[in-house]
Amino acid sequence: MKIGLLTGGGDCPGLNAVIRAVVRRALSFGIEVLGIRNGFLGLIEGDVEPLTGFSVTGILPKGGTILGTSRYDPLRVMEDRQKLLNNLKRYGLDALIAVGGDGTLSAARELHEMGVPIVGVPKTIDNDLKGTDYTFGFDTAVNVVRDAVDRLHTTAESHHRVMVVEVMGRRVGWIAALGGLAGGADFILIPEKPYRLDEMCKVLESRHRRGRPFSIVVVAEGAFPAGEEPPARIGEGGSSSIGFRVAKEIADRLGVETRVTVLGHIQRGGSPTAFDRIIGTRFGLRAVDLVREGRFGQMVALHGTRIDAVPLSEATAGPKQMDLEQFADAEVFFG
Ligand code: F6P
Repeated sequence: MKIGLLTGGGDCPGLNAVIRAVVRRALSFGIEVLGIRNGFLGLIEGDVEPLTGFSVTGILPKGGTILGTSRYDPLRVMEDRQKLLNNLKRYGLDALIAVGGDGTLSAARELHEMGVPIVGVPKTIDNDLKGTDYTFGFDTAVNVVRDAVDRLHTTAESHHRVMVVEVMGRRVGWIAALGGLAGGADFILIPEKPYRLDEMCKVLESRHRRGRPFSIVVVAEGAFPAGEEPPARIGEGGSSSIGFRVAKEIADRLGVETRVTVLGHIQRGGSPTAFDRIIGTRFGLRAVDLVREGRFGQMVALHGTRIDAVPLSEATAGPKQMDLEQFADAEVFFG
């Protein structure tokens, strides 16, 4: 048997833990693994390389993906579909394991419906995939936010400023909510709960009256004010982003100094945390088992401490919104 393995979409720490686990588990059953470079694009272009035990030595702590990745959609162009199917035969692939987020897993679902034997592994720092409690990459991103908020506390306090930290999360506010909670943010803005400037400024002002004339506000890049539509273009950074808008609104309303930090792709880089290494490893092991069991069209998933399997259709049925009960835990500490 031979399995094709690809990583698609935005990269994140933990991907190499998945690759390492897939290769080691497969080889233990005498199954070959063919690495496919740059997501589905590599399968269309024939950009592939056999993976051996040696290929994955020492990659566990390494961020990113040794296979490279892309956001290339294999189904958009009819000619690409045929090239993909031809290359499955050309390389003698009996199954595919696709590691990715919403885009990659949606393509995997459609390929399964076309009869391609494929298994999914959920991946995204956003934690916005239904069907799994967590995705690897998320814990590492939350720790990056927590470290940034810890650091910004000292300079905010020294200068009596409101520091606005813009974090990733276009559609959902998981990173902002849990990164802010872990760092002790004084206010958090998420797409799921459009913000009211009056409410936020009242909370920040109450801190000033209690002798705490500094604050940290964590803002998800997809956050927006009540009464407006979600932003059309996100993630292009620069002064057009929501973080700069919120900082100006606070400065104008409260007459305080504000500064903005956009964490951007720092949240996607670096070495995975132990949690993400463990989840990535367990996802990879189980994905090979699903292939061996012939359970295609499924995705591995974390349920509590168990690794289960759920239909790909479940993971791609729209974003997993931030749990507002958990967000309420963070709101206890606003102000
Ligand atoms: O989907 C993960 C993610 O990191 C989002 O949080 C972010 O908005 C987006 O990818 C950035 O995409 P790119 O790396 O293509 O700029």
